[in-house]
Amino acid sequence: MKSVIITGANGFLGSTLIKKLVERNVKVVAIDVTFQPCNLPDVSLITKVETYITDADDLAAKIPADDYDAFYHFAWAGVNGAVKANPVAQIKNIEMAAICMTVCNKIGCKKILCAGTIAEQSVKSLPFLEKTSGGMMYGIAKHCTHLMLENYSKNIGQPFVWMQLSNIYGPGNLTGNLVSYTLSELFEGNNPCFGPADQPYDFVSVDDTIEAIIRLGENETPQNTYYIGSGKPRLLKDYLICIGEIMGYPERIGIGKRPDDGIKYTVEMFDATDTKSDIGEYITKSFEEGIKETISWMRNRQ
Ligand SMILES: NC(=O)c1ccc[n+]([C@@H]2O[C@H](COP(=O)([O-])OP(=O)(O)OC[C@H]3O[C@@H](n4cnc5c(N)ncnc54)[C@H](O)[C@@H]3O)[C@@H](O)[C@H]2O)c1
Repeated sequence: MKSVIITGANGFLGSTLIKKLVERNVKVVAIDVTFQPCNLPDVSLITKVETYITDADDLAAKIPADDYDAFYHFAWAGVNGAVKANPVAQIKNIEMAAICMTVCNKIGCKKILCAGTIAEQSVKSLPFLEKTSGGMMYGIAKHCTHLMLENYSKNIGQPFVWMQLSNIYGPGNLTGNLVSYTLSELFEGNNPCFGPADQPYDFVSVDDTIEAIIRLGENETPQNTYYIGSGKPRLLKDYLICIGEIMGYPERIGIGKRPDDGIKYTVEMFDATDTKSDIGEYITKSFEEGIKETISWMRNRQ
């Protein structure tokens, strides 16, 4: 790839991807609502476009003319926090993804790659739940976006990849997701609390995730959906205890202290075989190695 567009460019994944791409001499148009503070390196390969994505013509007009290889769409309001549960905010995210596909097609960019999540799979549990948590709305919005974009891409003939991401951890991750929450609580002297955590789960380091994301942009991608997983899912409680052991506080990991949220994941949902067969092995470090690296990044921040 020589030239790409990235939305959500100042966020956790967008900024990490951009740092790796400029190391490989790729030109990037970086789009986000704000770059203050800026998480991107100050290099001439990056053109920053500060805008709210609300309209296709407006966005297309702000993107400099070029021969773009890939359009990575990461922008999403409410990846974490209360907005995750807000249906109106989540519908706007679906609309934003459709706008990005329209723009990608209009400017002749070769491929659009959008960020999905394993949380999409939670919709399969919805009919069996009496009560849901905020994360369900996020999963539903991603699921709807996935279906609408797959249909839209086939309708307008736009090459499209839905990157279903697992749980991501590593340096730079302050998103409050499972690893970020667990480590933050342990660092602050609190006891992190969880449900029974006895179902299959999967984590991939941010570095390995970004490598897969770059390869999905570069390689031929005969499928529409790729799950970016480790290929070796474990029980969630094994991962959590592992974090506690590495931190030296296994007894502070409060498994079973919260009620079961009722969302069921199966081993098949974490199958990364097709992804690895199309882009090769991208996992370079074990969960234990990645957690040690993350802990040392968190220690250095303190
Ligand atoms: N971080 C994870 O563990 C994880 C896991 C699975 C999927 N994802 C998905 O990956 C993507 C990136 O996640 P992240 O962790 O980097 O999130 P993030 O919140 O750090 O970044 C999202 C960025 O999108 C921008 N944005 C929101 N609305 C916008 C708009 N209307 N116009 C322009 N920019 C807008 C925000 O300003 C923010 O910088 C999201 O789509 C998320 O759902 C993330």
